[in-house]
Parts: sequence; C-alpha cells; structure tokens
Amino acid sequence: MTKDTVTITNNATGEVAEFALSRGTVGIPAVDIGTLNKELGVFTFDPGFMSTASCKSAITYIDGDKGVLLYRGYPIEQLAAKSSFVEVAYLLMNGELPTEFELLSFKDEIRHHSMIHEALRVFFNGFHYDAHPMSMMVGVMGSLSAFYHSELDMNDPEHRRISAMRMVAKVPTIAAACYRHSVGWPFVYPRLDLGYCENFMNMMFSLPSQKYVDKNNYIDPVTIKALNLLFILHADHEQNASTSTVRLASSTGANPYACVAAGISALWGPAHGGANEAVLAMLAEIGTVDRIPEFIAKAKDKNDPFRLMGFGHRVYKNFDPRATITRETCHEVLAKFPSDDPLFELALALEEYALKDEYFIEKKLYPNVDFYSGIIYKALKIPEDMFTVMFVIARTAGWVSHWMEMMSEPGQRIGRPRQIYTGNDVRDYVVESDR
Ligand code: CMC
Repeated sequence: MTKDTVTITNNATGEVAEFALSRGTVGIPAVDIGTLNKELGVFTFDPGFMSTASCKSAITYIDGDKGVLLYRGYPIEQLAAKSSFVEVAYLLMNGELPTEFELLSFKDEIRHHSMIHEALRVFFNGFHYDAHPMSMMVGVMGSLSAFYHSELDMNDPEHRRISAMRMVAKVPTIAAACYRHSVGWPFVYPRLDLGYCENFMNMMFSLPSQKYVDKNNYIDPVTIKALNLLFILHADHEQNASTSTVRLASSTGANPYACVAAGISALWGPAHGGANEAVLAMLAEIGTVDRIPEFIAKAKDKNDPFRLMGFGHRVYKNFDPRATITRETCHEVLAKFPSDDPLFELALALEEYALKDEYFIEKKLYPNVDFYSGIIYKALKIPEDMFTVMFVIARTAGWVSHWMEMMSEPGQRIGRPRQIYTGNDVRDYVVESDR
C-alpha cells in the first residue's frame, strides 16, 4: 500500500482494491476510480458532483475556503485591478499574458470577426418582440455553425482557434442585437475604432439620431471600467454548471457553436447566471427595508421554495472574492451615477441583516458576485433581462478556453455518467384490453 493510494473495501463481497490519488499543482487530490466498477463491481453515486472532479484543467483554480480565485495562476484581485477583459480573454485562451504585439494582434482579430453575417441579422426578425434575450442568445449562437461549416474540423488546431475567436468577437454583437430587437431599434454595426466594451455599449445604446457619448464626447470611462471589471470577474469559474455542460456536449464531438449554445442554456437558470436578474426581481419584491425580516424568514423556511438570490455558493464557503471586488465597484458606479433608486440601500440593508443571521452564518451563506453585479448593471442602464446576457458575453471566453483545452487533449472519451435505476424490474407486456 503506498501513500498515494486509497483502499476501498466492498463489505458486501469482501473484495479490496487500491486506487491511485491524482494530484494537481495545488488543491485537494482526487481518487482515480476509473476502474472501480471493474475491480469491485460498484459505481459511485454523487448527484450534483459534491465530491467528483470531472476533468483535469490548467485554466482556473478556486480555493473555496480561503476565497482564492486564480486565472492561469494570476489572482483575480490583480487581474481586476490591472488588466482588461480582452487581455484576460487572451490569458484564458492561450495560457500566458500577451506581449504588447500579441495583444494588439488579438484585439485586431477580435475586431475583424465582430461583424455577423447579414443573413444572421435577419434571424432576429423571426423572434417575437418580447422574446427573452437569453432565448435569442441560445438560438443565434447555436446557428453560427451554419455559417462556418467549412472550418469545423475539430482535429485542426487552426479551425479550433478561429471558431473560438469568432465566438468571443461576435458575442457582444449578438447580445446587443438581442436588445435592439426587443426595443425595436435599428441594429448597430460594430465599429473598428472602439474597444471591446465601448463597442458593446455603442451597439446597445447609440441611435441613428444620437451618439452614445457623454458631454465630453467620450464613452464614459467609469462605465467602461465597471464593464471590464464585471467581464473579468465573470470570465471563468472552473467546472461550473455551464462550463461542464459545454464540456459534456463537446465530448460527443458536437461543433463548438452548438456546445456553447448548450452552455448558454445552462447559464440561464436562476441558480447559476440567472441569479443577477433574480436578485433585482427579489429586491423589487421585498420593496422596503422594513420587509427584510419577513423575506429572511421565508428564505429559512424549509417549506418555502424562496431562497435569498445572490447568496450562497457551492465552492466559496467563507467569501466570494468576486463579491468583495464588485461591492467596491458598486459604490464607485453609484457615486458617479447617483440615483434616488432605493434598491442599493435595500441591498446593503439585506446584506447586513443576512450576515448577522444565525442561519446564514451557520450555513456559510455569503453574498456572491451576482448580488452586486445586477445593481451595477442597473446603474449602467442595462435592462434587467439583459443581465444574464452580460454574463454570457464574459463567460464565452471561459467556455471557449475549456473547449480548446479539452479538444487539444488526445484520447477524448464521450462523457457518459451511470445511474442508479429505481424503476420496475423486468415485466411482461400486457395487451391494452387486459390493462
Ligand atoms: N438562501 C437560503 N438558503 C440557502 C441559500 C440561499 N440563497 N443557498 C443555500 N441555502 C441553504 C440550503 O437550503 C441548504 O440548507 P440545508 O442544508 O438545511 O438543506 C444549505 O444552505 C446548502 O445549500 P445547497 O443548495 O445544498 O448548496 P449548493 O451548493 O447545492 O447550492 C447555490 C449553491 C448557489 C445554487 C445556492 O446557494 C443558491 O441557490 N443560491 C441562490 C442563487 C444564486 O445566488 N446563484 C448564483 C451563484 S454565483 C454565480 C454563479 O456561479 O453562477
């Protein structure tokens, strides 16, 4: 027996087998149980992946107890303070920070791919005016494969790279088009002279009759700084539900646009990326500070499905480092764009109340990144049903990075979990007249 193994005994049969520990650079080792069924005749059962690593990855590391988040080894706090979203996207996709020249070329390539095909633009007319932008995102992202089928050989590294670049470059254009369709405004083409975030805001809000600029003829720098920051914080988060969905779909060999569309669908849920929209809906429902105790009681009531949106995390059990950063930015943005909207005051009061409550302390439920991101987006005049779409723009960089990492590894196997069958045992068919 070596130190780097775990021994498992099947008490039902008396069989014993040893399994190797698989260690990463840092973090908790995993027991490699790939041969468990062969050796001991059993499967593992772990719905929700509470103790299961689904892959090896060199992209993002989280230590939930210490509140650590690293992209390619760089602490999120340093990237948030010093980097830009496009540089972070390069880092995630390529593994290293770019040189000045590499960053310029990357930006150029993103600009070059930011247009969408005119035929794709017409797709939006098929959506009802009140379609949720996320439903349009799923459909339009998935349909991109129809336009680039000559570059879908996933064994070709250049095809993989160009597919990933296309998604990162086009996702803000598609996102803004979803919004413009919902408000009936004309579509705005991307501009080559603008940066990633400036371009997105211009595509969202400029009108044929009005430029999207402040009184100094600039796109407001506080807005752009906040957007860059939120996109950086949301860019990747290791094997979360949407990234795992992208990986599972990719394991079948499906094309990357279809896989990312699957990731967008998974992100939409209120337990995941839909939380930022749900936080605002919850704050509107609470309405006033005096109703906070009533809603805290609902969140604690096991017979009530209500949960405090923007609180809790599967991995972070002390604090979410992204929430610490967004809280500061939230103050900065609200100082720049003062509003008499009582939402922010309500959010802070709710946070304070919950953090002192025994239930939340005992269960280690802290505000997560989405508690504040929705409030920042609201202050930037992003409509609430676009909040999760904003998450999509940022997370696309993470999804394509995981997809490229996975597809470049030899010996890919289809992801195929097993189950514990709880249905009927074998029984004979009964003809309709005898049932
Ligand atoms: N409000 C009230 N109770 C909660 C909450 C909450 N927000 N979150 C967890 N709990 C309770 C839960 O009822 C359970 O209690 P018990 O042990 O008595 O059954 C306990 O805390 C553990 O919860 P869990 O559901 O087993 O934890 P999980 O790791 O499966 O779920 C979560 C994590 C994020 C889905 C969950 O905390 C939640 O639903 N939060 C609200 C939605 C949210 O803000 N999501 C955004 C996550 S951050 C952005 C992202 O990564 O997408």
